[in-house]
Amino acid sequence: MNMNGYQCIACSVTRTADFDGFLCPSCGGNLDITYDYAAVANNIDDSFFQGSNDVFRFAALLPLKQPRSHFPLRVGGTPLYPVQRLGELAGMQNLYLKDDTLNPSASLKDRASAVVIGRALDIGANVVSVASTGNAGSSLACLAAATGLDAVIFVPANAPVAKLTQMLAFGARVLAVRGNYDDAYDLCLAASDEFGWFNRSTGYNAFAREGKKTCAYEIWQDLDGRVPDRVVVSTGDGNTLGAIWKGWCDLKAVGLIDRLPKIDCVQSEASAAISETVRQIRTGDESTVNWSTLKMREVNASTVADSISVDRPRDGLAAVKAIIQSGGEAVTVQDQEILAAIPQIARATGVFPEPAAAAPWAGVKQMIRNKKIATDELVVCIVSGSGLKDVANAQNAVGEPQIIEPSLQAVREVADIGG
Ligand SMILES: Cc1ncc(COP(=O)(O)O)c(C=O)c1O
Ligand SMILES: [Zn+2]
Repeated sequence: MNMNGYQCIACSVTRTADFDGFLCPSCGGNLDITYDYAAVANNIDDSFFQGSNDVFRFAALLPLKQPRSHFPLRVGGTPLYPVQRLGELAGMQNLYLKDDTLNPSASLKDRASAVVIGRALDIGANVVSVASTGNAGSSLACLAAATGLDAVIFVPANAPVAKLTQMLAFGARVLAVRGNYDDAYDLCLAASDEFGWFNRSTGYNAFAREGKKTCAYEIWQDLDGRVPDRVVVSTGDGNTLGAIWKGWCDLKAVGLIDRLPKIDCVQSEASAAISETVRQIRTGDESTVNWSTLKMREVNASTVADSISVDRPRDGLAAVKAIIQSGGEAVTVQDQEILAAIPQIARATGVFPEPAAAAPWAGVKQMIRNKKIATDELVVCIVSGSGLKDVANAQNAVGEPQIIEPSLQAVREVADIGG
């Protein structure tokens, strides 16, 4: 294993790899896992990042003791699609979608759950827990079922029914909290502490970031070693965005690439804590920010995109750092633009996103309009969750089918079909 310790994202204090806590013992900040990059770089040969078509092929930069090449489900290894017709709608020539709806539980969260479960197996934990807006929970429930672990999931009671049903189908203990995601999060922390469960919750568990960063590795492989100009990420807690940035930084640290992409954050106007923090920083001198004292904005989130509806981002600092350090944009879009992006993506590409996963395309169109992106840039939008997870909101965007009598005459009378 090339992991060599932890470093606090806020105050930079380090701990060795045998540290068994979750948060920084000095300041309570989130921890980031560190690697011996020189050792990794020295061992790069033809077999590097090869093997099973899933996240575990990246074992050289994963923090796991046991190789998990026989993991029961295929997590990761999702396609990167060039989507010319979608891009043309905004005059773009080089747009790609990373279709992470094709993970076992139909969201990018499976990458995090796979590595967290790998860790749980490494340390002999039997019960895994998580607080979730929905996808992290359905993902952990799915992979716990596949590996024979017990899962306890804390969700806001109003999470989309498809996500709740996934969790129940996979046999997780689902605790639907009368409150929002932030309430569920705090309760999951307290309960996991009390009962000794291995808590996967975003930000708190450093291993989740390690799983999600594999998304960057795959994009790099699928582009045959090219680095995109931008990767556009739908953002709630900020863990996914920070993880994708880390993936690219890893590749640079081991000498596989020599430049980094910009990472753009897209949030709903109705849940924009991270974007507002970035904007505030950029009103001053962004090169002199003191990360250990930076105060994150908090909001009263109310977006239709449930996956990114977050009052207090749980990995906000990592995301804000990633946006600033990469030179990316922090964009906010209206909920109506998010809903409109669902059928636009679906109709131009055949990929069906949930609202949160449609947000990056809404953000890209805005950035093109505002001339933040040139039309020839190579842009990758992450499609982080499937439209089947939130049919009610998709239906708001596409309406209902036309109902007709079972006769050919009825078809003839439908003016816009046929010859
Ligand atoms: C589909 C989808 N997109 C984006 C996100 C945002 O990830 P993060 O909360 O780490 O910013 C989530 C998180 O739940 C999600 O489920
Ligand atoms: Zn610290």
